[in-house]
Amino acid sequence: AEGKEKIKRAPVISVMGHVDHGKTSLLDYIRRTKVAAGESGGITQHIGAYHVETDHGMVSFLDTPGHAAFTAMRARGAQCTDIVILVVAADDGVMPQTKEAVDHARAAGVPIVVAINKMDKEEADPDRIKNELAGMDVIPEDWGGDTQFVPVSAHTGQGIDDLLEAVLLQSEMLELEASPDAPAKGVVVESSLERGRGSVATVLVQNGTLRQGDMVVAGSFFGKVRAMTDEAGKQVKDAGPSIPVEILGLNGTPDAGDEFFAVADEKKAKELAEFRQTR
Ligand code: GTP
Ligand code: NA
Ligand code: MG
Repeated sequence: AEGKEKIKRAPVISVMGHVDHGKTSLLDYIRRTKVAAGESGGITQHIGAYHVETDHGMVSFLDTPGHAAFTAMRARGAQCTDIVILVVAADDGVMPQTKEAVDHARAAGVPIVVAINKMDKEEADPDRIKNELAGMDVIPEDWGGDTQFVPVSAHTGQGIDDLLEAVLLQSEMLELEASPDAPAKGVVVESSLERGRGSVATVLVQNGTLRQGDMVVAGSFFGKVRAMTDEAGKQVKDAGPSIPVEILGLNGTPDAGDEFFAVADEKKAKELAEFRQTR
């Protein structure tokens, strides 16, 4: 219908993998090199999610303690991730949490792109990683399978552009779309009470556009969006599909994985939030 035109949206990526295989380092490298510096004193990470503009298009990352958030969201039936980047250290190989991540991604029906990390290390053995994952039916493209494996180093930056390119290629195949003109809806990534700010919730807009002043329901709470900030702590007036933002104004702290959506007025918001409390 008029005003509900669908357009391409950016992929939302979760980075998962075994302890110390380099998830945070990889995200830090991408953030340092891809997030525009200069606002709010540079690239301080302000919220647990952010988006980056690459040469091949925009990508959003959920930078939460991978498994916990993913599991919580899945338990609530929230599908918040389009693609999983599975980080495996080239000097360590497939470990229990690597397997868990593969199982999570499969159960959610989310495609995996493998980042073989720590390629700068002398002990790095990418073929071993390919063998081990192939044994779990995650077959590299160059072996006739359908999973992209990209050797990278979060320390030197080797391969990171290739990784982003691989993710965007995968995302093209998913044909991700959204309607920016629809009322906003999405999922809560995290929330907390902050002194002087009240309830602070990081939400990922999945469809529509969230605007300052919108009345929203999030889990069993509601409120008027008093202010919104992006990952750099910069005030923004609106956030479209696949964009994570921090919002102020809710009357409580919803859980990771709770749905949020904009509603017409406060009466409706109250009704819906109360209804949710009783479930
Ligand atoms: P958890 O969040 O604790 O599960 O760990 P993580 O997967 O986020 O790993 P993290 O980024 O904390 O990195 C763990 C260690 O590996 C740190 O000492 C990093 O400096 C190191 N590391 C990460 N990536 C690389 C890499 O590409 N090369 C080398 N040599 N070391 C790396
Ligand atoms: Na670590
Ligand atoms: Mg980490």
